[in-house]
Amino acid sequence: MVQRVRKAVLPVAGLGTRFLPATKAMPKEMLTVVDRPLIQYAVEECLQAGIEEFVFVSGRNKGALEDHFDHAYELETTLEQRKKAPELKETQAATIKPGNAIFTRQQKPLGLGHAVWCARHWIGREPFAVLLPDELTLDTPSCIGQLAAAHEKTGGSVVAVMDVPREQTKSYGIAAVKGEKDGLAEITGMVEKPKPEEAPSTLALIGRYVLLPEVFDHLDRHETGAGGEIQLTDAMARMIGNTPFHALRYAGRRYDCGSRLGFLEANVAISLDRQDTKAESRALIERLMKG
Ligand code: G1P
Repeated sequence: MVQRVRKAVLPVAGLGTRFLPATKAMPKEMLTVVDRPLIQYAVEECLQAGIEEFVFVSGRNKGALEDHFDHAYELETTLEQRKKAPELKETQAATIKPGNAIFTRQQKPLGLGHAVWCARHWIGREPFAVLLPDELTLDTPSCIGQLAAAHEKTGGSVVAVMDVPREQTKSYGIAAVKGEKDGLAEITGMVEKPKPEEAPSTLALIGRYVLLPEVFDHLDRHETGAGGEIQLTDAMARMIGNTPFHALRYAGRRYDCGSRLGFLEANVAISLDRQDTKAESRALIERLMKG
């Protein structure tokens, strides 16, 4: 029987150099899109998919992330006394059940594959999700929920992919696929950040994965790849042919919040979309556009 996905790994050790000076004293995952930090979108995406246990692979100066998912007693008491019920509800919405989150440190910036490997003891031998929080995805069911459902169907690993312009392949892991049916295709190869002329396709990995624990057997070898880093893509590529591996074409909204423009786009798009901010945001943008 196929095991359900219950656990997620959230690699959050990155320095966020593209957002300096904002990230000098604050984790990049705490950057705010409208009113919630990036990390909360990723956690909510998991919760919507029924994933309730989290391994945060963190680093120095990331304490705010741990606090964000805890109760904030002083704040909550003050909000209660001031009868600010909606604000209290928002504050408590971000908590994770006691004992369901582990924070471990990557210690050395050796690459995404190494970050995921750091979670191995907490994951054990079961399928698990990986979400890169600077990729923000919004859909119903959630992107990771769609991958978990595809995993239940195939029994193997599944990654989310989207088409990107060929000149951008050097920024992504790229998958070669065959036999696509209803957005699900078998993966025949994967390569990290290929040059446009060498890319096997334009299907980019967008930071959402459901993986079988066999990936740890490959990550154990600590082989370095693109950029001299231990790449998750390389370990996944080694699984092809041994266990089922599929790509799911993701059709929902996705914002690359690892780039300044993508982050800005996410803020504008989500504020234009949300019922509570929609009308005012539209009026504001129209006013600004008039100059
Ligand atoms: C990472 C992965 C890459 C993936 C990308 C998605 O790269 O290594 O395979 O396509 O995230 O954002 P990074 O952007 O961290 O260099």
